[in-house]
Amino acid sequence: MIRSSKPILRALRGEILDHPPFWFMRQAGRYLPEYRALREKLGGFLDLCYTPEFAAEATLQPVRRFGMDAAILFSDILLVPQAMGQKLWFEPGEGPALTPIRTADAVSSLRVEGLTERLQPVYRALELVVTALPKETVLIGFAGAPWTVATYMVEGRSSREFSIVKEWALADASGFDRLIDRLVAATCAHLRAQISAGAEVVQLFDTWAGVVPPAAFDRLVIEPTRRIVDCVRKDHPDTPIIGFPRGIGPLYPRYFRETAVTAVSVDATVLPETIAETLQPLGVVQGNLDPAVLVGGGSALDRGVARILGALRAGPFIFNLGHGILPETPIEHVTQLVSLIRNA
Ligand code: CP3
Repeated sequence: MIRSSKPILRALRGEILDHPPFWFMRQAGRYLPEYRALREKLGGFLDLCYTPEFAAEATLQPVRRFGMDAAILFSDILLVPQAMGQKLWFEPGEGPALTPIRTADAVSSLRVEGLTERLQPVYRALELVVTALPKETVLIGFAGAPWTVATYMVEGRSSREFSIVKEWALADASGFDRLIDRLVAATCAHLRAQISAGAEVVQLFDTWAGVVPPAAFDRLVIEPTRRIVDCVRKDHPDTPIIGFPRGIGPLYPRYFRETAVTAVSVDATVLPETIAETLQPLGVVQGNLDPAVLVGGGSALDRGVARILGALRAGPFIFNLGHGILPETPIEHVTQLVSLIRNA
């Protein structure tokens, strides 16, 4: 087999590059004027996700402007519950809304069969992006991890307290685990289909891993992730898998060892020196600039980037943010960030 020389894939094999490769979570989206123009043409966010030509265009926009080493498919983690039969819509300015799943019957009504047929437009978008990307640029597919997707499915919206989903997960473990089981199967099928359509790397977003009570962490975060990793690797043993368990602090090393992901994406609450000491010896790390520092720009951005590079560039590393780019981020600050990474 010929090994790819794309910088992100080299980094994910553990190579240390002269200049760390980079991409940014949520690199497509509202901070880009060309994205806002595309949205105005089409209307709803979900229409954008389900129209392959538009989803492909939104995926390519940031790469054209900034030349990131990876493109991440323009889509959403909530397309999976929607494809399982849950009603999903986006209220303008409000974020996602879903008819909540809170009973055994509601779980039984969720369908995994036929899921990849219903998500065909997503895979078609990946095929379109593959043909248009620069040859050095990697295409990343993704899905939400079961716990994070379950929080939206059960709460019915973005949550602050997560009280309903936590109560169910803790008080009725066997009932809740049936929901997790379906999500493991659906997520594995969705990731495999993305890889077949051209995704060269996949990332699992566990945005709300940090709110899981520590006593349930293995059951709700590690085990489902491990099962997805094993399932995806059965068909695609060479496709790197990045895990992003946001906010888990001291549990990152355990997550890295026990889920067997290829790389871990680290949020901005962990000091770069701590990442170098406790995580990089275990494998490839990605992260971890605070998106708010990018909004602020200026010398604080210079210092933040220098600290991360100083701590992490001597080991296997992909530069990223600790979470997604915020919509209010000035474009010039992203330009500043890209030149700081490139000229480091
Ligand atoms: O990173 C990328 O550029 C690729 C596209 C992507 C989106 N969502 C597009 C999107 C990815 C990887 C996601 C993942 C996602 N979606 C997560 C996990 C990562 C994270 O950011 O925590 C979560 C929790 C969701 C669910 C979701 N989708 C929420 C809570 C919202 C509303 C908040 C918001 O930012 O508006 C969305 C909408 C959404 N997903 C938008 C985009 C570009 C905004 C839609 C718009 O108004 O144009």
